[in-house]
Amino acid sequence: MRRLSSGGWRLSLARSPLCWAGTQGRFPITDPTGGAAENQHVIRFPRQSSRELGQNEAFFYLVEDGEDKRIKFHDYAAIYDRPGLYEQLFYDRLRCTSPQVVVSRLVEAVRHAGEMVEPLRVLDLGAGNGIVADEMNRHGVARLVGLDIIQRAREAALRDRPSGYDEYLVADMTAPDAATSKALDQWRLDALTCVAALGFDDIPAAAFIAAMDKIAADGWLAFNIKTDFLQGADKGGFAALVKTMLDRDLVELHLLERYRHRLSIDGEWLEYFVLVARKRGALSADIRERFA
Ligand SMILES: C[S@@+](CC[C@H](N)C(=O)[O-])C[C@H]1O[C@@H](n2cnc3c(N)ncnc32)[C@H](O)[C@@H]1O
Repeated sequence: MRRLSSGGWRLSLARSPLCWAGTQGRFPITDPTGGAAENQHVIRFPRQSSRELGQNEAFFYLVEDGEDKRIKFHDYAAIYDRPGLYEQLFYDRLRCTSPQVVVSRLVEAVRHAGEMVEPLRVLDLGAGNGIVADEMNRHGVARLVGLDIIQRAREAALRDRPSGYDEYLVADMTAPDAATSKALDQWRLDALTCVAALGFDDIPAAAFIAAMDKIAADGWLAFNIKTDFLQGADKGGFAALVKTMLDRDLVELHLLERYRHRLSIDGEWLEYFVLVARKRGALSADIRERFA
């Protein structure tokens, strides 16, 4: 890995071909769209362009009981409450690729390092209704624990993918309660995934640090982030956190790739980075204070 003079990062890891290790995950899925293929919900997009709205302000109309209900993309509880709506909106209509991309790149990096994916004990931070579990379970990881800040995400995950996670915890990772902290310790986790959940009023740097603390030394980290957030527009402090960890050799970068996360409602691709790294040292008190 070399730091570019522009301040960007170039990946030096040789890319190996993607390798799907069969579908003998813990719980094979029969319908990768989670039922979205049926298009059971009536979704309509507004007249306005998404350029007039922030990504966290984007909304759609759901036609229900003869009414157009305006629902924000970030009103996760309203979306999770309706079976299949999350999948239909983000995966069917907006062609989100991120769970598949992040999980496949983690698998690729682990194998490239000469290790196996199957013994991994993974924490899926910001797990939502469990789409990442579908992807992860294709590879048959040893343990998979989901965590989200909202109870309705847990309820939706248990409803839609009852066997997706070995345990699904509800907590705000910026300040996990004692029971959550103890449970996470007991799972002896060695990998962290965080998909489509960093930035945009979702998971702040402090929560990511707290989750990292629950991952073993030398554990794997795999997440995605909007390209702007790693480059300049550093709301949430995430770029600074990632750069600090790299500068101080607290993480070892294994893979950094720019890819198409999903379409905007105007049909334009939103570009994200997927980053796979390995913990190499404990975060010092000054870093914790800076991102608290
Ligand atoms: C866009 S969803 C992504 C869900 C899932 N990872 C996926 O790829 O489909 C973001 C999730 O992050 C959760 N979240 C936001 N802030 C959080 C926090 N501080 N701690 C844990 N989860 C959080 C939200 O409740 C939401 O379910």
